Amino acid sequence: MSQLTLPQKERALNGDLAERCLPFPGSQSLNTFIISSPLAIITLDLEGLVTGWNPASERIFGWSTQESLGRPLLMVYPEKQFEHNSFCKRLNSGESISGIEITRHRKDGAEIVLRASMNPLREEDGTIIGNMALLEDVTEQTRQETRIRKLSQIVEQCPISVVITDIHGIIEYANPKFTSLTGYTTAESIGQNPRILKTGATSDAEYRDLWETITSGRDWKGEFLNRKKNGELYRERATICPLTDNSGKITGYVALKEDITDQRNVEEQLAEANQAIEAIIQAAPLAIYHLAPSGEVSRWNHAAETMFGWKSKDVIGKRLPTLAKDDSDTLDENLVRTLAGECEKGMETRRYKRTGEAVDVHLWTAPTEDANGNATGIISIMDDITERKHAQNQLQLQLERIASLRQIDMAITSSLDLQLTLNVLLDQVTRMLGATAADILLYNPHTYTLEYAARRGQASNELTRPIHLGDDGPGMAARQRRLISLSELTPNLGSYQRAMELAGKGDISYYAVPLIARGQVKGVMEVYHLDNLQRDSEWLDFLEMLAGQAAIAIDSITLFEDLQRTNSELAMAYDATIEGWSRALDLRDKETEGHSERVTEVTMQLARIMGINEAEVAHIRRGALLHDIGKMGVPDSILLKPGSLNEEEWDVMRRHPMMAYDLLAPIAFLRPSLEIPYAHHEKWDGSGYPRGLKGQSIPLAARIFAIADIWDALSSDRPYRAAWPQVKVLAHIQSLAGNHLDPDVVTAFLGLARIKLAA
Ligand code: C2E
Ligand code: SIN
Ligand code: SIN
Ligand code: FE
Ligand code: FE
Repeated sequence: MSQLTLPQKERALNGDLAERCLPFPGSQSLNTFIISSPLAIITLDLEGLVTGWNPASERIFGWSTQESLGRPLLMVYPEKQFEHNSFCKRLNSGESISGIEITRHRKDGAEIVLRASMNPLREEDGTIIGNMALLEDVTEQTRQETRIRKLSQIVEQCPISVVITDIHGIIEYANPKFTSLTGYTTAESIGQNPRILKTGATSDAEYRDLWETITSGRDWKGEFLNRKKNGELYRERATICPLTDNSGKITGYVALKEDITDQRNVEEQLAEANQAIEAIIQAAPLAIYHLAPSGEVSRWNHAAETMFGWKSKDVIGKRLPTLAKDDSDTLDENLVRTLAGECEKGMETRRYKRTGEAVDVHLWTAPTEDANGNATGIISIMDDITERKHAQNQLQLQLERIASLRQIDMAITSSLDLQLTLNVLLDQVTRMLGATAADILLYNPHTYTLEYAARRGQASNELTRPIHLGDDGPGMAARQRRLISLSELTPNLGSYQRAMELAGKGDISYYAVPLIARGQVKGVMEVYHLDNLQRDSEWLDFLEMLAGQAAIAIDSITLFEDLQRTNSELAMAYDATIEGWSRALDLRDKETEGHSERVTEVTMQLARIMGINEAEVAHIRRGALLHDIGKMGVPDSILLKPGSLNEEEWDVMRRHPMMAYDLLAPIAFLRPSLEIPYAHHEKWDGSGYPRGLKGQSIPLAARIFAIADIWDALSSDRPYRAAWPQVKVLAHIQSLAGNHLDPDVVTAFLGLARIKLAA
């Protein structure tokens, strides 16, 4: 059926319907038209009650003609009632309303969109008796239009470039994003091949592949390096899809394009960074490995291979091999602790290689997580500090050894006691060499034997017998002048048996080292350890150093002792000589036997009373014994003259102190004893001889001696007179105080004499 224009329909209806009662009385052809019209045709009376309702109305709205006739329009819901009333009012007053869209409801409640044309219905005289509406259901059409509008909005506004081409690839449409991306306006783009616009970098082969894919009806996805209008290159990710009509025929193509230059840059940077990190991890001198939360190894770098001896192919994807021996430090515990965020930060600890060898390490651990913050495991980093620690320990040991040698040095230089020094030495030996026991034997050059002098920690007390050179460990060390160890001893030797006794059931090491100073064996040191360790060369060096120290200590102390012995032997020999001379002098002088000894005894007593020290008294003693040695130069004729001396004889006699000086001064040993022989005839008032010294300028020893000499001379018989009684002697001495004699010494002497008299 061909469609009539609305004015034609109007005219047709107006004529016939005006004459008859509805429904649609009139010519058959008009009725046929109304009945078969795809448009809803509805007539209302002035009250708004339905007077006509064609089959299309039934179909479109769902109410039957019977349901509708004589009633208000059921399709007008209350919210549309006002609009409906206003339409009716306008129509009833003669107005036509056409080409508008209204929404109404179907019987099933669905909303429908209608395009409406409404006219008044008139009598032939023109009286309005109602109205008639032609309603076309445009619901579906409207919905599609809305959808298309939305779609085109999306395409226009979407952040992806959209290009639609015809079947030949000529651009029919490009969205604004395409313009902003490429710089080509819509006008510049339409009618062009996208490939021609992009003077860029797609190869022919790529383009052919693309074209073959899409012409065969498949989507193509890929990347282009394209050029913008301004010449700038950019990386584009494109999806190109064929567009088909209902029959599946390709009608064109749509291309969705995205600029991924920035994204690609970020990806490339990330990839580069990852590569750099990977290189660093592999090249790092630190063992680095990563464990999944399950404890499986996921990374294992080169240093880890070297440090622990596990190749990465042996460990990747498996549980971490046991690196820790200690139960309290297990992998699982560390893993759990680290995952909980309790990290190690350089803790010093010990791990073990595949071979079981220990590695001292500094350990760092940290949990790892992915971009979403989920735990992915832990990373462990280890620095091998075995060497460093060893060096540190060696340094420490060196320092201790130096300190120890220094202590021995001090003992040697500050003590002349050999026993004390050897004890210090053995203390250091046992401590610094870690010895369980040690001893020192001294070589006795007279008996050609080694004798035990000091020991530490010996089990046996039977270390008394001297050892002959060549016998036992010590004897071998001394004779061969070298270190002897246990392996060189035979079981019949005493030192071997002592070592076994000390060892009990355990291991033992034994060394005998000769103590050599200035080319001579001074003794032997024996050292015992309760183990059988191989000692390194540094240890042996240190042992030899201690042995050297011991030898020096023994040498210097014995040397000093020898010297001291020599000195005192010499001193004793001298003194015996002096006493002999003294007695000989007395004999020649015909003095009472023992004069010199007596005056010497009294002089020493007086000297001590006067506060003179013992060393000085020793000199005074020698001076007193030899006080008249100068009389050796006085001829017998004068010395032994029974009567008084004449002037010449006195001259000779008065020379005897000077002669004593000349005799004794060249003898260094007797120089400190010269005061008495030289000055025993000086007088307090200066009237004495040989120098006429006065008062305190006369040496005290001489002042003391003079009193003893006069006392003993007067108490004895002399060739020139008989002995005086004691009372007279003391009175005489008293009378000399202050003129010939020092009054203080006289007082001291008389005090001493009174005690003697009383006794
Ligand atoms: P000496 O006999 O050992 O006497 C030592 C000093 O004791 C004398 O020193 C004198 O200070 C005192 N002394 C000894 N005898 C007497 C004494 O009889 N009277 C007094 N007042 N003092 C006496 P001095 O005087 O410088 O004499 C030195 C030495 O000269 C004497 O040593 C003696 O060896 C000798 N000498 C002194 N007088 C005589 C003398 O008359 N005849 C002889 N042959 N020798 C005399
Ligand atoms: C009519 O007035 O005939 C129908 C128009 C409407 O549904 O309001
Ligand atoms: C770990 O990687 O779990 C810690 C390292 C270790 O203790 O061996
Ligand atoms: Fe004299
Ligand atoms: Fe005398």
